Amino acid sequence: MIAITGANGNLGKATIGFLLKKIKPEQIVAIVRDPKKMDDLKDSGIQIRIADYDDLDSLNEALNGVEKLLQISAISIGEQGVKEEANVVKAARQQGVQHIVYTGAVKPKADAHFMATQQCLATESAILDSGIPHTFFGNSLYMETIPIFIGEALDHGTIYYPAGNGAVSFVSRVDIAEALSNVISSQGHENKRYEITGSKAYTFKEVALILTTERKITVSYVNIPNVVLAEELDKFQIPDDQIGWQLSLADSIKANEFSYVDGTLEDLLKRKPVELKDYLRNL
Ligand SMILES: NC(=O)c1ccc[n+]([C@@H]2O[C@H](COP(=O)([O-])OP(=O)(O)OC[C@H]3O[C@@H](n4cnc5c(N)ncnc54)[C@H](OP(=O)(O)O)[C@@H]3O)[C@@H](O)[C@H]2O)c1
Repeated sequence: MIAITGANGNLGKATIGFLLKKIKPEQIVAIVRDPKKMDDLKDSGIQIRIADYDDLDSLNEALNGVEKLLQISAISIGEQGVKEEANVVKAARQQGVQHIVYTGAVKPKADAHFMATQQCLATESAILDSGIPHTFFGNSLYMETIPIFIGEALDHGTIYYPAGNGAVSFVSRVDIAEALSNVISSQGHENKRYEITGSKAYTFKEVALILTTERKITVSYVNIPNVVLAEELDKFQIPDDQIGWQLSLADSIKANEFSYVDGTLEDLLKRKPVELKDYLRNL
């Protein structure tokens, strides 16, 4: 049996969609907190089990009989996020899971600016310590996050974001899901690390240029100071720790922590990954 955590999220559900074309539904275990969020798949034949990353017992129950686990990184940040992801690894070890495929960050460095990268590294280290054979997906930023960065630029023509000249090898989340489904439904991926990126890294100025060409409206990029972003987020009553997390992401982009480009995704998909211009044209 193959289990997927975060199964009702964007990446988890898309991966299940691809998996259903490759293996029998009864071999798929979707692990979620709220089964109502799986209503669209309730008649698909997959097993839906309930667990919370914060509850080790529930994870142990959900992973009973599971051979392969796709562990999708958590949403919680800081120590809580590290603890939740460690719980998943602990339960996997206790239940004798034989292979963990974990989705983390591209080329993670111990001194990375981005707080989530630090969390992913902690989980990778817990998986290595567990002795369970692993496959690490080092994901670059999803193309699907671009609307968050560009805000209302398609209306007023300006992207305001503190990314400097940092470039990002944006990658389609749907492509990642398909690649994950290929990996977890086949053999030969144990103890490998795959850096999962788009085929080119783009600065925010280049993103603005592509939008201008593809959307026929003039878009420009303005690099704002971090404090301006922090003030904007504060206006929406975003908690301080979330603001710190957002600023760490901006700093990481500025420092080119997401600019690495790798051809592995094309190998895993056996086709060209989605191009940024095609994504932006249809945004
Ligand atoms: N590379 C990138 O650009 C990027 C961008 C965003 C996120 N990420 C990371 O990639 C992961 C997958 O992305 P996504 O787009 O699929 O995110 P998503 O749609 O927000 O899905 C996150 C999933 O995690 C589940 N979850 C959260 N806390 C949980 C808990 N305590 N116990 C059990 N399940 C829990 C959520 O369940 P509920 O519906 O019950 O909350 C949901 O199914 C994210 O979780 C995040 O770590 C990466």
